[in-house]
Amino acid sequence: MIGETPIEEWADRLEAALEACGGSQHRVFVVRETDSTQAAARRIGASANDVVVAWRQTAGRGRLGRRWLDPENLGIAATFVRTAAAPEYLAVASAVGTAQAAEKLLDRPVGIKWPNDIIVDGRKLAGILIQQTSSLAFIGIGMNVNQIRWPPKLADRAVSLAQISRPVDRLEALRILLPAVFRSLSQERAVLEKEFARRDWLRGSRATFQRGQEIVTGQVLRTDPGRGLLLSTDAGEVFLPAATTTVRRAAETDTRGAVS
Ligand code: BTN
Repeated sequence: MIGETPIEEWADRLEAALEACGGSQHRVFVVRETDSTQAAARRIGASANDVVVAWRQTAGRGRLGRRWLDPENLGIAATFVRTAAAPEYLAVASAVGTAQAAEKLLDRPVGIKWPNDIIVDGRKLAGILIQQTSSLAFIGIGMNVNQIRWPPKLADRAVSLAQISRPVDRLEALRILLPAVFRSLSQERAVLEKEFARRDWLRGSRATFQRGQEIVTGQVLRTDPGRGLLLSTDAGEVFLPAATTTVRRAAETDTRGAVS
């Protein structure tokens, strides 16, 4: 296990990391323990460009009502607040920023499984939950950092930085993640589309999706930051929306990540 920077230093060090990349408009809230940084951001009254980071998160939320569990407190949990925007754009931008941060920490390429799971060697390294009110978007990112053991049902689906490369001080991971995500959330769509495409784990594969109650199967053509995932089906081409679609089965390894 690695020695961790004490929580008392987190806020200043993270603000400095954001300032160094030209982001002096950001406020960083570090909470010692919270149920979910998504809920904490709302309770604190965080506004656009703020970020809420938890030292320990006890009831993390995943996509589509799932849970994001980290009972040993070995991962990172952060909620980025932005002005409300198109869910497709936020999904792609946050995934690209998280992937870039992971690549910097690992010194190797990673994949993005649409809409926004970060995948390494077929296993999930990080997950993203986007929730919106009429005015604000809450982009929650969880990354597995120092886990080396998983519950049996996650063992072949989840992976951490420590398992791929080396144990990492969680503050170090956050100092890379925060600027990368804010930068990506300000990026133009054309750039994001290219950055996503380079890492698109589903592109070209035959996959099955659930959209609401409907099951759709087809070949994945590409991801459009404005319209969602473009699928070629027997009935023609269809765009699948990020917020309400889940991947049921892909031709490559089927992963659902570190959620139960
Ligand atoms: C998923 O893969 O289903 C999304 C997981 C998102 C987890 C993060 S951890 C920080 C933020 N707070 C939460 O309660 N959830 C997100």
